[in-house]
Amino acid sequence: MIDLEKCGFATKQIHAGKHENAAGALTPPIYQTSTFEFASVEEGGRRFAGQEAGFIYSRLSNPTVNVAEEKVAALEGGEAALGTAAGMGAISAALWTSVVSGDEIVASDTLYGCTFSLMNHGMAKFGVKATFVDFADLDAVKAALTEKTKVVYLESPCNPTLKVVDIAAVAAIAHGYNPAIRVIVDNTFASPYLQQPLKLGADVVVHSATKYLNGHGDVIAGFVVGKADFIGEVRSFGLKDMTGAVLSPFDAFLIARGLKTLDIRMEKHCANAMKVAQFLHDHPAVDKVYYPGLEDFEGYEIAKKQMKKPGGMMSIELKADRDTAAAALNKLKLCTIAVSLGDAETLVEHPATMTHSTYTSEELKASGISEGLVRISIGLEDPEDIIADFEQAFAGLV
Ligand SMILES: Cc1ncc(COP(=O)(O)O)c(C=O)c1O
Repeated sequence: MIDLEKCGFATKQIHAGKHENAAGALTPPIYQTSTFEFASVEEGGRRFAGQEAGFIYSRLSNPTVNVAEEKVAALEGGEAALGTAAGMGAISAALWTSVVSGDEIVASDTLYGCTFSLMNHGMAKFGVKATFVDFADLDAVKAALTEKTKVVYLESPCNPTLKVVDIAAVAAIAHGYNPAIRVIVDNTFASPYLQQPLKLGADVVVHSATKYLNGHGDVIAGFVVGKADFIGEVRSFGLKDMTGAVLSPFDAFLIARGLKTLDIRMEKHCANAMKVAQFLHDHPAVDKVYYPGLEDFEGYEIAKKQMKKPGGMMSIELKADRDTAAAALNKLKLCTIAVSLGDAETLVEHPATMTHSTYTSEELKASGISEGLVRISIGLEDPEDIIADFEQAFAGLV
C-alpha cells in the first residue's frame, strides 16, 4: 500500500478514499442503501455502542459517502471530513455544533447571502449573536472579539466582491485572544487546490461541493473538514440530529469522480480567468474588475501569499445603470445567466437581484455589493470564445 500522506495533490485526488471491494471494481461502487444488516441483535448493539466498527444507517455514514469524505480530507490536509446534502448543510451543521444560546460569532462583512441570512436572521432567533466586521481591517476583527466569541467565520476570496482575507493573520488574532475560538473558513471560491486554510491556522474548513469540488454542475453538496473529534461531533450531532442534511451515495459518487480532475480543472479556470480579467479590465464599459490576479486589486498581495493561483471567480462593475447592465447581460450567447459557480460553463449572475437578494439595501451597501455588480464564474471553454461573447454583449455600452 502506498503512503498517500507522502504523495502529491494529483495522486491524492485520484487514490484517496479507495478501499478494496467485493468485486474488485476499479471505481468504488455506489452503496445505494439506507440501512445495513446486522448478523444479530447483539452485533447491532455493539455497533450502536461504538464497540465494533461497521455501518449502521446511511444518515450516520455510508461507504460511498466515505470515499468522497476521505478524498476531501486528504486534499484539505484535515484529519477527517463529513459530507452533507448542501454547502448550507455543512455550514449550519458546523455552526450549530459550535455554539449555544448566548454565544457570539464574529464574521466577515462579505459572505454568501444564505450564510449571512443563517447567522443574522436564523441563529439570532435562538440567542446567538453575530457581529459582522471588515476582515481586511485586522484591528476591527480584534476589537469585535469578546469572552462570548466561540466562532470566527470568513470566506476568502469572498462571495461576491472577491475580497481577500489574510487567513493566517485572522487565525493568529482569534487564537491569541482565546485558543478555544473555532476559526471556520469557507474555502468554496478557492478549492483546496489553490488554498488550504487548515495549513494557514484555521480549525475548520467548509465547502459548497456543488461548486469546484464536484465541478460538473450536477450535484448539490457540502463538506466540513477538520480534526477527527470535531468532525465526529458534527456527524453525531450537527448532522444526525440538528440538520439531517445527509449527502446521498449517488451524489457522493459523482463528487468522487469530479475530484479526480480537480487540479487540471482549476488550472484551466485560472488561466481562462486571467485572460478574461485582463480583457474586461481594459474594456471602456467596465468601471472595475474584482479579481485577485490583477495587480491593482486590493487583495492581490495577500492572494499571492496564500493562494497557489488567483482562481476562476471575478466580479465587475459596469459603467451603466441597473437596467442597461441587465440588457447587456441578456445579449450574452455563450456565457449563461445562472447562479452557482465552478462549473465547466461560464456563468454570469447579478448578486443584488439573485444570490444576495435576501439583503436589505443597507445590508447590500455594508457588504460593498452595488446594484451594478456582476459576478462571473469563468468556465472551461476556449478563452477567446468567452472574451468574444463579452465583447459583443458590451459593444452597445460604449
Ligand atoms: C461561498 C459559498 N458558500 C456556500 C454556499 C452554499 O452552498 P450550497 O448551494 O451548496 O448550499 C455557496 C453557494 O453559492 C457559496 O457560494
